[in-house]
Amino acid sequence: LDNGLARTPPMGWLSWERFRCETDCTTFPDSCISEKLYMAMADKMVELNLKAYGYEYVNIDDCWPAKERDPETGKLVADPDRFPSGISALADYMHARGLKLGIYEDFGVQTCAKYPGSEFYMEIDANTFAEWKVDMVKFDGCNSDPNDSPYGYPTMQFYMNKTGHPMLYSCEWPLYESKKTDYALIRKTCNTWRNSHDVQDTWDSVLSIIDFYGDDNQNFSAYTGPGGWADPDMLVVGDFGLSYYQQKAQFGMWAMFSAPLLMSVDLRTISQEALAILQNRNVIAINQDPLGVPAKRLDLQLPNSISVWTKPLADGSTAVAFYQEGNSGRPTLVSTTLATIGLASGNGYNVTEVFDGKGMGTFKPSSPFKVLVDPNGILLLKAVPM
Ligand code: GLA
Repeated sequence: LDNGLARTPPMGWLSWERFRCETDCTTFPDSCISEKLYMAMADKMVELNLKAYGYEYVNIDDCWPAKERDPETGKLVADPDRFPSGISALADYMHARGLKLGIYEDFGVQTCAKYPGSEFYMEIDANTFAEWKVDMVKFDGCNSDPNDSPYGYPTMQFYMNKTGHPMLYSCEWPLYESKKTDYALIRKTCNTWRNSHDVQDTWDSVLSIIDFYGDDNQNFSAYTGPGGWADPDMLVVGDFGLSYYQQKAQFGMWAMFSAPLLMSVDLRTISQEALAILQNRNVIAINQDPLGVPAKRLDLQLPNSISVWTKPLADGSTAVAFYQEGNSGRPTLVSTTLATIGLASGNGYNVTEVFDGKGMGTFKPSSPFKVLVDPNGILLLKAVPM
């Protein structure tokens, strides 16, 4: 969507994967969906200096509203017990800290967790979000007719645009769609679009999303670029399910995909190790590269389920990921050449390892190129032509 927003993939935090729909604030005062949670995360984003790395959106997901709209105005109301100050005050809280606030709705009659949906209320809801000075809207598709996505999403975009208040539009389209996907229309309508299943805190879930992006059905990667990004869902770095190497692999691959980087982690208890992954400037630079071209998986037959992905960068260099989906128990040696992975510049390349910034040397396209790839891991490289 060319509304001036998301010229590079949006970065921030989103509550869903880690905090779900816990509304019992008596039993779970620190982790229920409440204004306290979002304020605590904003405080942590400031304390951990995450804004300086590019993370700026703090996003509410499902379960924030009261179960009924205001009977007089039809407007959504935040749950009065869990959001006693209201969403507008929460947006002010974010803005005072240099952050932005995102909110969640659904274009069906109810959200996925059965809170009031936007169907028949889109104009009112767009106006309400603008009035509250919300900066990003995630629009889900539960409890809607699966044929309606191409109408529901553009309608909300029309009303949001009409408010004159800029709001980044994060669609869950084509996820719910039953017909052939019109990616050109999605790109025109949305700043980000979910086309893969909800990420879970498991390696199986992460690798199935990576496979989906590698398969690149209908060549959906061609629609990604400044203003509009395919969204493989949240980062689960720092949560319970992934090993250190799997966390690096998710972060590195999301960088390669030019994906939105939305952490879903408790920033109050995150380990130093996970935080260091999320704060790796070299990897973030690949994600935020202004060219905005997502990686493609090459068709190479390599041992131990290793695949190679390349992403062209604005400065003429190429990011290369060696990704090992499986676990063969030890790092796997890959012997190849740069020419084999499509790097054919006659003068050769200066290659660096992206995560730790170490130089690996210079290589001609045809000289032997040997790398070790960790099990369930990634080796992320940058090749600069000489
Ligand atoms: C769907 C979405 C998730 C989350 C939940 C909330 O499953 O895909 O990202 O928003 O709904 O109920």
